[in-house]
Amino acid sequence: MRFSTISLSFLSLINLSSAAATPVELAPPCGTTLYPTILQQIYEDRPFKVFANNRNFYVSQEFDASGNVYNRTYQIVGFEKIPPGSYACQLNVKFSAGYNIAASGTPTLNVKTLFNGDSNKIKSPNHWTWNKFYRGTSSPFGQGIFGTTTLTPGISSAINRCPTGGGNLAFMFEIADRVLTDANVQFKQTDKGGLYLTYNC
Ligand SMILES: *[C@@H]1O[C@H](CO)[C@@H](O)[C@H](O)[C@H]1NC(C)=O
Repeated sequence: MRFSTISLSFLSLINLSSAAATPVELAPPCGTTLYPTILQQIYEDRPFKVFANNRNFYVSQEFDASGNVYNRTYQIVGFEKIPPGSYACQLNVKFSAGYNIAASGTPTLNVKTLFNGDSNKIKSPNHWTWNKFYRGTSSPFGQGIFGTTTLTPGISSAINRCPTGGGNLAFMFEIADRVLTDANVQFKQTDKGGLYLTYNC
């Protein structure tokens, strides 16, 4: 009788603690966390300009009167120095509740791998431009879509398992093809919100 009372109150304690707000930390308590060392945009309206590495994430597109997309801005997110032999690598996104994300249309984003298997090409400074990635004859992107995400405050989600192998990894974030309206999303990568990799989890 006494035992069951104790168990019961213990159980309700567990319930209470799981109901309490979980403190938000970008790094999950598992394996190793790696933050992007490269955050760089490419702009369709300035196709030959190389933009500097910065701490912002910015993706946008506009549609003209005849329904054609133009003035796209896409986001490159790069991670460097993943140890060789690391396992269970995963690309994740997490934002604290109420995190400042400026968005119009809250678009779904497609994520593609960039220079997958070509680790040496992923570095900063670099010569990355819209022209280089979207008007070239050979595609720097991996096969198909690596993952999708919709960036909203309070989310914590895995985008996908990374391609295997250590070294450097880069991803291109684009507005999903099926979004046929003006749309954009923007945030500042900080320790309270943004993209990160985990491995050895
Ligand atoms: C393209 O969009 C950016 C904002 O993303 C804006 O600053 C710029 O003026 C636009 N350019 C054109 C040609 O509409």
